[in-house]
Amino acid sequence: MDSKILVAYASTHGSTQEVAEEIARTLREHELRVELQPARDVHTLEGYSAVVLGAALYMFHLHKDALRFLSRHQKALTSGTPLAIFAGGPIETGDEKEFQEVRKQLDQELAKFPWLRPVAIEVIGGKFDPLRLRFPWNLIPALKHRPPSDLRDWDAIRHWASTLAEQLQPAISYS
Ligand SMILES: Cc1cc2nc3c(=O)[nH]c(=O)nc-3n(C[C@H](O)[C@H](O)[C@H](O)COP(=O)(O)O)c2cc1C
Repeated sequence: MDSKILVAYASTHGSTQEVAEEIARTLREHELRVELQPARDVHTLEGYSAVVLGAALYMFHLHKDALRFLSRHQKALTSGTPLAIFAGGPIETGDEKEFQEVRKQLDQELAKFPWLRPVAIEVIGGKFDPLRLRFPWNLIPALKHRPPSDLRDWDAIRHWASTLAEQLQPAISYS
């Protein structure tokens, strides 16, 4: 079996994709073979010894590409392919309370997949740009007039990816 890690992402405006790219880069720095792909383009998990899935949260729900990814790959993910999940994210204060609330949203979404046993779950800060809002969100004053923000903490993201590298290494070695 090929010892590759898949980093898949479900992103509308690109901020989750950028986080996935940084995670892939960090895993490669740890001598791991990594493939980076949009979640919607992944048709099989064959050939991957571990998966990292990143998803944006929109209106209390995980990005639809991530939900579909989990449904589509249930068999592989319940047959020993370890899965780590990260999701963004907080765009307001970035304080502990906001992170906890977002973690609650994420846990509720993951509870839709009772068979899921992620080896790691992480909430990542999000990025918000009112100028890039799409219909119908660009019509909502509370969103339109919200200031831009970028709460992605790159040091924390790289640190999480480094701990993942150590955690996923055994899955690679034994595959
Ligand atoms: C219309 C809209 C709704 C959002 N809803 C949520 C939400 O329910 N929970 C959350 O944590 N973040 C929410 N966010 C923040 C996004 O998750 C954040 O902007 C993220 O970085 C977007 O990822 P992307 O650039 O990969 O699409 C929302 C953002 C927008 C624009």
